[in-house]
Amino acid sequence: MANQDKINELIEKRAKAKLGGGEKRIDSQHSKGKLTARERIDILLDEDSFEEFDMFVTHRTKSFGLDKQVYLSDGVITGHGTIDGRIVYVFSQDFTVFGGSLSETYALKICKIMDMAMKIGVPVIGLNDSGGARIQEGVRSLAGYAEIFQRNIMASGVIPQISSILGPCAGGAVYSPALTDFTIMTDQTSYMFVTGPKVVKSVTGEVVTTEELGGAQIHSTKSGVSHFLAENDEENLLLVRKLMSYLPSNNLEDPPSIKCSDPIDRLDDILNDIIPENPNQPYDIVDVISVITDNGEFTEVHRNYARNITVGFARFNGHPVGIVANQPKYFAGVLDCEASRKAARFVRFCDAFNIPIVTLVDVPGFLPGTGQEYAGIILHGAKLLFAYGEATVPKVTITLRKSYGGAHDVMSCKQLRGDLNYAWPTAEIAVMGAKGAVEVLEGSNIRKIEDANEKQEYIEKKEDEYNTKFANPYVAAKYGFIDDVIEPRNTRFRIVRALELLSNKKEVNPPKKHSNIPL
Ligand code: HXC
Repeated sequence: MANQDKINELIEKRAKAKLGGGEKRIDSQHSKGKLTARERIDILLDEDSFEEFDMFVTHRTKSFGLDKQVYLSDGVITGHGTIDGRIVYVFSQDFTVFGGSLSETYALKICKIMDMAMKIGVPVIGLNDSGGARIQEGVRSLAGYAEIFQRNIMASGVIPQISSILGPCAGGAVYSPALTDFTIMTDQTSYMFVTGPKVVKSVTGEVVTTEELGGAQIHSTKSGVSHFLAENDEENLLLVRKLMSYLPSNNLEDPPSIKCSDPIDRLDDILNDIIPENPNQPYDIVDVISVITDNGEFTEVHRNYARNITVGFARFNGHPVGIVANQPKYFAGVLDCEASRKAARFVRFCDAFNIPIVTLVDVPGFLPGTGQEYAGIILHGAKLLFAYGEATVPKVTITLRKSYGGAHDVMSCKQLRGDLNYAWPTAEIAVMGAKGAVEVLEGSNIRKIEDANEKQEYIEKKEDEYNTKFANPYVAAKYGFIDDVIEPRNTRFRIVRALELLSNKKEVNPPKKHSNIPL
């Protein structure tokens, strides 16, 4: 064969590979409102930056007539490219080839790029759209999944791993995304479950739709499996790019800083009035966050899940931070099982990847009652406590209003190695609120008063006394548990300066195999 013929053969093969399962199946993919595996890569990566590996890989199965159904790339596109100029590895499952189902060779392709990413120290982004294990390959497919899981586990905390869910993700296949750092689901076209509706019906009798069982809405609101909900494939992929802008390429690097155009010393007078006079009145903590961060930007993680706590990424003076904030707008910002779990995972992520944590506190305590106790609030609350106590990244805590009881300790207090702990003058740092305290301390005296008006007057007097004595920041400040009481409008500047001060912080935990966080 002449050289040119050989080159033409390559060009033909490439063109064939790019067609995946063929035009008909590509049309079918589009008709479902989904992009193809390659179109997705084009949106995810910087223009023309994608370099593909293993385009000519095919499966090795002969049975079930598969020897006559051979597709170049075997249902998954793998390679590397850049996002904002930074290298990432990517795999994109191609639903047009055997429904994106995973074969042995397909798994090897994914493992190859995961190994490369670990060697180089760059993130892995998985675009998932698959019918799960390729049925014709049986246990070889299961083994392939396990090879991927093992690599997900080894990469955890070393390189960021992000999963976009853009179609079906079923069976054990859901565990690879679950092992990664962030999962982004697309509304209506993606779903995740360990078994589908048919199996559910046959095992438990429950009748449920795909959407109800594992749709993007469900996993973004009820289970917390999905960290972000996107309207469509494009939004999903652009979210990955945005998320990447806050993350370092690996655990030995600092997160990427950008030039800050927002004055660091601007005074935000609005904050001086943001706390309502009535301590039981809610406000939106996101209003505070979007006043203090660079250009008011905040990328909220788990926005629709456990809304009583708010977590997400922002920047101060161009440097990425993770923000954890109680949200008084939902259930008064109380800590419950889900909120504790959500925040604990976020804190651990930030700590693993050198992202400083800014904590905004307004918490009335842990949610009491049998519902929470039976659901294991002790263990879930301990997760958050553990995560903060273990974290060695810079930790800046601002107490805005309530900081009561165990929840005070949990929310990055001084003794959990909070580096700089400030409070607004409106802070109330105490064992419990006035109402509860008076009930406990004055119960016997209150019971002795027969007249209802007198009783009420006595209670109010005692509550006032308690508030004056304890519901302020100065008792904590007296003991040095709060480093300073600051004027709310200075908060941005104080945080920027605190983070600058802490930028060379070195804190190391004792050597150990690993900790035993209460899971
Ligand atoms: C081989 C598969 C496949 C699979 C789909 N296809 N899933 N081929 N193995 N697992 C093929 C179909 O035969 C079809 O081929 C093409 O992909 C598209 O599938 P359709 O059914 O036509 O598409 P759609 O109607 O959109 O339904 C998609 C689907 C459905 C919901 C994913 O295909 C489905 O239920 N598949 C099986 C899912 C499943 O149970 N997988 C195993 C899970 S257990 P043609 O040639 O017609 O285009 C598991 C264990 C992992 O994954 C364990 C890890 C530890």
